Amino acid sequence: MGSGSATSILLLSGCILQCISAVYGSRNCDLLNIMDGDIKVSSSELCLAEFVTKECSPFVKSLNTDDLPSDFQGSSFSAVKLSNLNIVGLVNDYLDNSNTLYKCPGLRIEWDAPKSDDSYKNVKGYLIHWQYETNIGCRLFHFNSSNTLLLQKVRFYYDIQYLYASGANYIVRAYSILSSEAKGKEEIDNSALMLRSFPMYKYAADPALWSPSVILKTSPKGSIEVKFTLSPPEFELTQFRIQLVKYSYDLNNYYKAQDYHGNLYTPSEPEGVVHFLNLTSDLYSIVLQPIDPFSNIEHQCLCWKTISHSMCPAEQCCENICMMIVTQWFQLNVTETSKAPLPDVYQSIDTKNET
Ligand SMILES: *[C@@H]1O[C@H](CO)[C@@H](O)[C@H](O)[C@H]1NC(C)=O
Ligand SMILES: *[C@@H]1O[C@H](CO)[C@@H](O)[C@H](O)[C@H]1NC(C)=O
Ligand SMILES: *[C@@H]1O[C@H](CO)[C@@H](O)[C@H](O)[C@H]1NC(C)=O
Repeated sequence: MGSGSATSILLLSGCILQCISAVYGSRNCDLLNIMDGDIKVSSSELCLAEFVTKECSPFVKSLNTDDLPSDFQGSSFSAVKLSNLNIVGLVNDYLDNSNTLYKCPGLRIEWDAPKSDDSYKNVKGYLIHWQYETNIGCRLFHFNSSNTLLLQKVRFYYDIQYLYASGANYIVRAYSILSSEAKGKEEIDNSALMLRSFPMYKYAADPALWSPSVILKTSPKGSIEVKFTLSPPEFELTQFRIQLVKYSYDLNNYYKAQDYHGNLYTPSEPEGVVHFLNLTSDLYSIVLQPIDPFSNIEHQCLCWKTISHSMCPAEQCCENICMMIVTQWFQLNVTETSKAPLPDVYQSIDTKNET
């Protein structure tokens, strides 16, 4: 690959990023989805107001309840981390001014209401926030306290359509806003999660410009969950290899690999997942790579990129074993103790230290 082409790709995505840096939200909780099993509950039954980034970021930075909007007046509050946060990487369409279709990384944030009586009865709202370097996005929801009985069983979903920057590490956190009468604190497990978003690309561009979004979660008893966005349908990649390397050399157990064979991306089934179990406490590196069953077979290979003036058919050159679509290496610190630590990748970019 010539260095000239790499430079132009970077400049192109830098330009487009500015076009979609706006993150959309609404004042009326429209984009907050509340599900009671498979049944959608009208968000207006619970949620009275939604505050967007400009309004909630002072509170995110301080977690000082004096910075809450005036709707929360009347009693004192505390922000308690949620124990059951989940995030999902999304692939969303974006049309620029000249009607060119791009695929942009999005993010779904999901959480349950607190389970303990003391907590759910005192829920006054939720705060979710996502951070890329020093950029913060947030939503704050103010709830009708007379209706919190509903909270016992529902699950919440919020979709962020476009992330500020593609191919970046995002840390996502969520809190319940409890009135201070609540004594019991929720158990803190994975109260922060990280998404490495895929790089934005022009629709029907070279598959070699894509790589999956990845979400890693360590959990107690020495396991790692690897979730990743499935291939956009046009790339037809259905097989992936996930490789794990243990930091300390151990003859029997230093390398593990799993192959995943699944479907193509759909909004209802956006991700694949594999688990590595029974790991001993150590630092681990993980990498994820699509597998091309037609590797290097002209006209058939799935991993290709356009090289003008090349010898390849239609200038689409097969990329040797999809090496170009490999993700970065992620580092994780696994412990076998019951308290799950955050992976190292969070700590290394968590400059705000707001936990
Ligand atoms: C809060 O919920 C109660 C019970 O459903 C309802 O009577 C009341 O009008 C709601 N308050 C607001 C401000 O919507
Ligand atoms: C993990 O360890 C448990 C208990 O020792 C065992 O039953 C299970 O088969 C192991 N799983 C894997 C994937 O090795
Ligand atoms: C991994 O976590 C353990 C336990 O928290 C800690 O003692 C160790 O220093 C960590 N290792 C690295 C390389 O961060």
